[in-house]
Amino acid sequence: MVKIMPPPCSPAPRPYTTVILAMSADGKISDRDRQAARFSSAADLHHLETQIAQADGVLFGANTLRAYGTCLTVRQPALLGARSQRQQPPQPIQMVCSGSGKLDPKWRFFQQAVPRWLITTALGAKRWQGQAAFEQVLTLSASSPSGWRVMAQTLREQGVETLALLGGGTLVAAWLAAGLVDELYLTVCPLLMGGAGSPTPVDGAGQLMTAPWPLTLISAKTVGSEVFLHYRYSHDPGD
Ligand SMILES: NC(=O)c1ccc[n+]([C@@H]2O[C@H](COP(=O)([O-])OP(=O)(O)OC[C@H]3O[C@@H](n4cnc5c(N)ncnc54)[C@H](OP(=O)(O)O)[C@@H]3O)[C@@H](O)[C@H]2O)c1
Repeated sequence: MVKIMPPPCSPAPRPYTTVILAMSADGKISDRDRQAARFSSAADLHHLETQIAQADGVLFGANTLRAYGTCLTVRQPALLGARSQRQQPPQPIQMVCSGSGKLDPKWRFFQQAVPRWLITTALGAKRWQGQAAFEQVLTLSASSPSGWRVMAQTLREQGVETLALLGGGTLVAAWLAAGLVDELYLTVCPLLMGGAGSPTPVDGAGQLMTAPWPLTLISAKTVGSEVFLHYRYSHDPGD
C-alpha cells in the first residue's frame, strides 16, 4: 500500500490529516450514553486498521479514550510488513488530547505496546509531570483554531507527516475549525441511534448553512449493508 503523503505544494508544514469515523444512518457516532461505538462490521474494523496502519500518528479526544479505555493497534501481518517497508515503526504514535489531563492510568491503553503522547493544557501537563506513561507531553498554547495550528506544526516538526484523526466529534470540530483536515472516511452503518444528545461526526458550535465545511466525494463503496464514503476537504486557498 502506498503511504499517503502531503501534496508537494502543501502550503502549511503540518500533518496530512484524515478523519475516520463510523456512524449510524441518522448520523450518530455513538449512543446517548457516549459509550464505545461497537456497531460497525468486521469489514469496517479492517478498513479502520488499514487507515491507522498508514499513519505516523493517531489522534483522539479524551472522551473517546474514556469510552474505550484502549486504542486500536496495527495487528495484521500484511499491514505491519507494509509499515516496515515504508521505514515506519511497527505502531503509529497514539496521541490523546485531554485539556484536563484526567485520564486513568489503570486503563488498558497504558499497558499497550504503543508509543503514547499527550496533548494537553499547562494544567493537564502538571498531572503527568515526572511520569513515564507518555513519551511526550505537548502543551496547547491555546484552545482555539490558532492554538491547534501551532500544535499541528509542532507535530510535523516532530516527524508526524500523516495523521489519522479518530474522533470524537468534539475534537474533529476543533480540527475542522482550524482548517487542519484533508480527508474524511465515513462508514454509514445500517441502524438508527436517535437522541439529540448523541455525538455526531462533527460537534462543537457548528457552521451556518452559508459557510459549511465543503467536501468533494472521492469514492463510495458498498460492502454488505454498509456504505464506505471517502471525501476530500476542499480547503480555502489561504489554509
Ligand atoms: N463511531 C466512531 O467512529 C467513533 C469514533 C470515536 C469516538 N466515538 C464516540 O465519540 C464519543 C466521544 O466524543 P466526544 O465528542 O464526546 O469527545 P472527544 O472528541 O473524544 O473528546 C473530547 C475531549 O477531548 C479534549 N479536547 C477536545 N478538544 C480540545 C481542545 N480544543 N482543547 C483541550 N482539550 C480538548 C477534552 O478533554 P478533557 O475532558 O480531558 O479536557 C474534551 O473533553 C464517544 O461516545 C465515542 O464512543 C465514535
